[in-house]
Amino acid sequence: MPIQISSVPDFLYGTAWKEDRTAALTELAVRAGFRGIDTANQRRHYFEAGVGQGLAATYLDGLVTRADLFLQTKFTYRRGQDHRLPYDAAVRVGVQVAQSMASSLEHLGTDYVDSFVLHGPSSGYGWSDEDAEVWEAMRKERDAGRTRMLGVSNVSLDQVEQMATAHDEPPAFVQNRCFARTGWDREVRRFCRERKIIYQGFSLLTANLEVLQHTLVNGIARRINATSVQIIFSFARALGMLPLTGTSNSEHMKQDLASREVQLSEDEVRAIESLAG
Ligand SMILES: NC(=O)c1ccc[n+]([C@@H]2O[C@H](COP(=O)([O-])OP(=O)(O)OC[C@H]3O[C@@H](n4cnc5c(N)ncnc54)[C@H](OP(=O)(O)O)[C@@H]3O)[C@@H](O)[C@H]2O)c1
Repeated sequence: MPIQISSVPDFLYGTAWKEDRTAALTELAVRAGFRGIDTANQRRHYFEAGVGQGLAATYLDGLVTRADLFLQTKFTYRRGQDHRLPYDAAVRVGVQVAQSMASSLEHLGTDYVDSFVLHGPSSGYGWSDEDAEVWEAMRKERDAGRTRMLGVSNVSLDQVEQMATAHDEPPAFVQNRCFARTGWDREVRRFCRERKIIYQGFSLLTANLEVLQHTLVNGIARRINATSVQIIFSFARALGMLPLTGTSNSEHMKQDLASREVQLSEDEVRAIESLAG
């Protein structure tokens, strides 16, 4: 079957840490208007089969079709998993990648995902031979039509640079935790901009509580009748990021989506960017 083209949305709904509520919250997120869903085949932090159940409910209701959605999942190394593995621990990592993808497709009730992400390199430093083997296996999944695009997560500038040197094809996405104190991951974002890689920012709220409470952010929020959370998401987008939200609250889902209408001036964006880094 030819791959359906669904474009990259401007917001991703994150499904981590939702356990028994994963199906209901995924369904609620689609009802609220999210069209991008982020998950991982890592039972320790995600319940990917629950995401699939939530999606099935939205299809059944005629709310959306698979082609309307952008589904992103991840391959997670053994050391990032608990005992509930989506692959055989005894086989080579390249084979584990294929097994993890097959299991994700089953969980999500689809025959392709839109993005397949390496959850994190094998160590905090450098791009190892093991990472290279995983990346080549991920490319095979892409070439076989089981994912449209590929990405990497939890990478330093050094790692993403090494990766770009080691392989003839850069990732379509980098997904990183975004701390204000690092200039909101300024160096990695710059690299991504230069290479036309889409930068996905997560934990924008939970990693930056002091910024959310800062008088500068509160002042802008009051002036334009928005919430501080909406200012942060609007700011992230103004920097060129594709933001994720992990809310479990239907009102917050609506507010987070409404941040797309919040416009900040260039001066405000610069001021927030340099608040803490
Ligand atoms: N690649 C990785 O290694 C990795 C790691 C972590 C996370 N992620 C992805 O990123 C997603 C988001 O991560 P996160 O949960 O750390 O992100 P987050 O969106 O920064 O944090 C979620 C928190 O923000 C609150 N929140 C959201 N919208 C709000 C609003 N409008 N008003 C008030 N509070 C609001 C939520 O509370 P309420 O529930 O009360 O709204 C929740 O406590 C995850 O679900 C996962 O998909 C990826």
